[in-house]
Amino acid sequence: MPSPLSAKPKGPGVQEAQRLIQSHKNGAWTELVQRYGKSFYYQGTLVTCDAQLVEQLLMQRVHTRTRSLVYKKLNQIIPLAPGLLFMDEEPWQRRLQAIMPAFTKARVDTYAGYMHDCIVRYVEQWGTTTTIPDLYCEMVHLNAEHLFRAGLGLDIQTECARELGKALIDYKFDLMDPNARLDWFGFSEKQLWRLPQFVKAQWRRRQKVRQLRKVVETVKVDNRCAQGLNWLQTLREAGFSNEEVTNEVNHLYGAYNALDYAITGAFYELGKHPEWTVLLRNELSEVLGPEGYPTRDTFQALPHTLRFMKEVFRCYPVSMGVSRRTGEELRVGELTLPAGQEVLVLLHALHHHPDYWDQPDVFNPDRWKEEPRVPYAYVPFLKGPRHCIGRHLAELNFVLVLNVVLQRFDIQVHDREVALAPYMMPRFERELACTFTRLN
Ligand code: HEM
Repeated sequence: MPSPLSAKPKGPGVQEAQRLIQSHKNGAWTELVQRYGKSFYYQGTLVTCDAQLVEQLLMQRVHTRTRSLVYKKLNQIIPLAPGLLFMDEEPWQRRLQAIMPAFTKARVDTYAGYMHDCIVRYVEQWGTTTTIPDLYCEMVHLNAEHLFRAGLGLDIQTECARELGKALIDYKFDLMDPNARLDWFGFSEKQLWRLPQFVKAQWRRRQKVRQLRKVVETVKVDNRCAQGLNWLQTLREAGFSNEEVTNEVNHLYGAYNALDYAITGAFYELGKHPEWTVLLRNELSEVLGPEGYPTRDTFQALPHTLRFMKEVFRCYPVSMGVSRRTGEELRVGELTLPAGQEVLVLLHALHHHPDYWDQPDVFNPDRWKEEPRVPYAYVPFLKGPRHCIGRHLAELNFVLVLNVVLQRFDIQVHDREVALAPYMMPRFERELACTFTRLN
């Protein structure tokens, strides 16, 4: 194994890396860094899960000022992409200022009750026993219900709001079309055969964008529903054009997807660990009562739930990696990165490296009785100036859904061995069928 401390640690060739990811499934990312070291070069990018380097990249402002070229390219390639995540400098500041107030800890607590009611209404449709063919798809719809009300201030009974909801969900699923996905780990000529399908998909997406812009332009915020984040109104009032509002709304909705995926992972794990279902259900019902709901203020009274949530975010990070670009020369150990070096931080590998975690492949919420032994080995929402702005909302939403579902239903997952698909944006490789059975 080459030394991670050599001046330019060499990584795999692209075909080798992609083969390894296909064959090792969930374990591929840890396998990569075990074979090539915590930091290695791959197609000109430094790939790393070195916690010390991660700390510097996230926390030193100089390395957070300029966005990675990968994000800038994605911003150009994907129709509707331009949004906070891909921006830097003044455009990023301007959007952040407009949107940030809706995401503070105190503010998200004010819509907990409202979100709770929407989630209760949604799961009431499940009846006594409901078999769901695809858990992820169900979570997308469950979260969309309250998001469109609280996040967009829309009365979802109106045709226009329903049309917008459908268009946003449709666009999101389209981006994950396996024939036209962009999030491979590296690029090889072998992928060129997908080009025609990709071009076709781009054309289709552009049509969808035009449709979405039209709906956003005409959709009216209903003040009775607009008790929450209300991105539409906020962005309109801050003077953004219809195109910018559409981009950002789609972007924020896309970011919400991380939560749909994490909650899917949570129910998948609960289906496999019924003892945790009972533990969490008892804790939630004792602390909150059968009709109650959590706020961020009540989190500290829910230690088992919080441990479980942390473990889900460790095992199901939003992306296998996030890209960064150094703002000046950076030295960590024997590694020296010049200014402008593209870096890919491997979140999944960081969250599973055996140097940082005991039995990293075991889903064990009890590991969180203690803090991780290495700082920055756990950064599901990142840290520092470019951390996730939706963290408080995401955590609240996560516990709200667990509370409503576990206090009413048992979960049975039909297939207990579903691996993750071999892309940077993780998804389960096939549909997760499950049955929710109402408790007596
Ligand atoms: C489980 C849920 C979530 C996880 C694990 C998560 C994680 C992350 C991570 C790792 C980033 C940094 C990406 C990068 O810089 O490359 C990020 C950025 C971001 N997240 Fe989240 N996220 C979650 C939910 C949400 C939600 C619900 C929203 C809001 C609707 C949201 C909004 C954003 C935005 C706007 C950014 C870009 C911030 C910036 O670049 O300044 N996220 N998220």
